[in-house]
Formats: sequence, C-alpha cells, structure tokens
Amino acid sequence: MATLVELEREAHVCVRCPLSAGRTNVVFGVGDPNASLMLVGEGPGRDEDLAGEPFVGRSGQLLDRLLRQEVGLERRQVYIANVVKCRPPGNRDPRPEEIASCRPYLEAQIGMVGPDVLVTLGNFASRLLLDTSEGIRRLRGRTYRFGERSLVPTYHPAAALRGGGGEVLAEMRADLVRAKRALAAAGVPA
Ligand code: URA
Repeated sequence: MATLVELEREAHVCVRCPLSAGRTNVVFGVGDPNASLMLVGEGPGRDEDLAGEPFVGRSGQLLDRLLRQEVGLERRQVYIANVVKCRPPGNRDPRPEEIASCRPYLEAQIGMVGPDVLVTLGNFASRLLLDTSEGIRRLRGRTYRFGERSLVPTYHPAAALRGGGGEVLAEMRADLVRAKRALAAAGVPA
C-alpha cells in the first residue's frame, strides 16, 4: 500500500483536472500523519497556492484559534486537507468534475491518517463526505457516523469572517466542542 509521502509525491505532478494548469503549488495537506482529528476544507486560496500549505490565510488563522480554544489542539497536532488540492482560479467554487478527479486523494488521506474524528468545513467538504446535497446550515449541529469514524460538519471559517452577527462563529465553536466530545468518546486523551 502506498504511504502518505508517496501519495503526496504523486499529487505534486497530478494533471487529472484543469486546475493543475493554474496552480503555483499543489496543496496536499499538512499536520500529524497519525492525527486523531482531521479537518477538511474546500480548496486552496491565493495564500495557500503560494505557500503550498492549507489554511495559512485569514481563514486559517481563525481556524487555528478556534482549534486551540475549543479543542485544545495546535495545528501541528491535527491533519488538515482540502477537497481539491489546486486553487480554483479567482477562488471560484470547485466544479463537480474537479472534485471527482481529486476525491481519491482525499479518500486515501483519510484512510492513511486514520483519524477518529473528521471535521468538514463548509458545504463542499460536508456534502462530499456525507454524500448529500443538503446545505451546511442544516447539516451542522450534530455528529454523524462515517464508517468507523465520527464526522462533525461545521461552517467554513470564511463564513464566520464574513460576519453573520457572531452567530456563525458561536455555532462553529459549538461544533468544535462536539468534535472534542467525539474524540473523548473514541478514547483519545485530552
Ligand atoms: N479555504 C479552504 O477551504 N482551504 C484552504 O486551504 C484555505 C482556505
């Protein structure tokens, strides 16, 4: 079986979809390769495309803060990946065929890292992994079974940065507390 390092090497030369033509860097994933908690975002933005690392811009700074405050974990203690590994031009939404091309990478990452708990950030990651067309507003607020793992859908941090009267942020915090509880239920020491 391929390792995470081998899979990343493969992704770095991937041309399975047209997003490869516009990328500066492939943004494969970052963090502890044996993490108990894995976060899944949508796709790289400008900062991530330049850095080659997920969630390094404003959304990432908020995510790091929420992780620390609500779960008690630092970025290096979790694993972070996206639905698509290359930046959609102008930060447009990833297209269904791009998501489908990139899906095997995410599925393999989940299998190799083997987290007890997944947190999906926003519509794209939540819909893909829960196999639904339902929106995040309706999906969030509970913990789902995902095979042998737990899955907690929440908003994308960019939604909290856009405002929403603080309600989105409060709900994100509550969802991350759910993730913390799911980790405890899986026997992960706090
Ligand atoms: N938004 C995402 O969904 N992923 C990133 O890596 C950065 C911003």
